[in-house]
Amino acid sequence: MITFKDVQIHFGDFHAIKNLNLNIREGEFFTFLGPSGCGKTTILRSLVGFINPASGQILLNDRDITQVPIEKREISMVFQSYALFPTLNVYENIAFGMRVKKFSKAEVDAQVKEIARKVDLSEEQLVKKVSELSGGQQQRVAIARALVLKPSILALDEPLSNLDAKLRVQLRNELKDLQKKFGITTVYVTHDQEEALTLSDRIAVFNKGIVEQVGTPREIYNESKTEFVCNFIGDINLIQPAIIQNSPLKDFIDPAKKSYIRNEKISLTPIVQGKNAVQLKGEIVDQEFYGIYTKYSVEIAGGGILKTVETEKGHDQYQTGDEIDIYMHAGDILQY
Ligand SMILES: Nc1ncnc2c1ncn2[C@@H]1O[C@H](COP(=O)(O)OP(=O)(O)OP(=O)(O)O)[C@@H](O)[C@H]1O
Ligand SMILES: [Mg+2]
Repeated sequence: MITFKDVQIHFGDFHAIKNLNLNIREGEFFTFLGPSGCGKTTILRSLVGFINPASGQILLNDRDITQVPIEKREISMVFQSYALFPTLNVYENIAFGMRVKKFSKAEVDAQVKEIARKVDLSEEQLVKKVSELSGGQQQRVAIARALVLKPSILALDEPLSNLDAKLRVQLRNELKDLQKKFGITTVYVTHDQEEALTLSDRIAVFNKGIVEQVGTPREIYNESKTEFVCNFIGDINLIQPAIIQNSPLKDFIDPAKKSYIRNEKISLTPIVQGKNAVQLKGEIVDQEFYGIYTKYSVEIAGGGILKTVETEKGHDQYQTGDEIDIYMHAGDILQY
């Protein structure tokens, strides 16, 4: 288990990590999610040992490792910038850690080739210099290099950011499989909410050096604790006061608070009626086609816009200008 206890990290006067308290369980896929500059890389670097906290402790299975040097922590890291050896070929980059640990030639060869296959690097690519590879290929070399030693803890800093959408999903699944198979405790950094939701057992959402919420993907998404989390984790409607004033919604929620509802929780087709089901009249004023779904902007009678998504059924369902009813459950509204 990894524990951060009152960890503060400073760069001069700037307090990059304010006061971090966190437990990461053994075998867990744990993700730090947050916008650029919130401190994700900084925390990962402190776990691996590149940065010393100004105060606080980092514990590994109750052992204080705050002052333990990098090489004694036995945590493999994939850096945001890869940090590969440019003059060595791909094979030697992946083999590096095994050579340092004096594995036999045959063991190195078998492991390097197996891991290369897993991350989709071909035999021809293994003899190329790293500088001759594309960004995405270099990213895969970096992942292979970290995995080849079968570490008990793997720290990954945006390891899929340079890949095309298809390869990203493929490698994401591969990572998850390897992680589960070997039981590697994985600490993953991303600013991509979809990646965080699909991969993680638990997520910590960061904002300006502070953890806003720790929870499972479903908790983070459906029960966002703060306004920042609810906005960061997915598309959401801020329900304008006019909509609340002119509708039965005001009977169900606190009108003094800010109210949000996720796009997909609003439906253009009737929903199961419960005692907090609400129906509003509106007109479709805009639409964006995303392939598997379309996002409709609905102007509500009496003022205010709400966005909703409808999955594509293979034929045109709604046109801009259509007068429609929208349906929602007041219980799905998040208030802050
Ligand atoms: N070595 C450093 N010296 C001074 N400030 C730093 C240093 N490293 C990071 N910072 C600052 O600390 C904050 C957090 O940086 P960090 O790299 O951890 O962000 P991040 O969440 O990883 O962002 P990104 O998603 O862009 O990679 C930023 O404001 C950054 O400018
Ligand atoms: Mg970073």
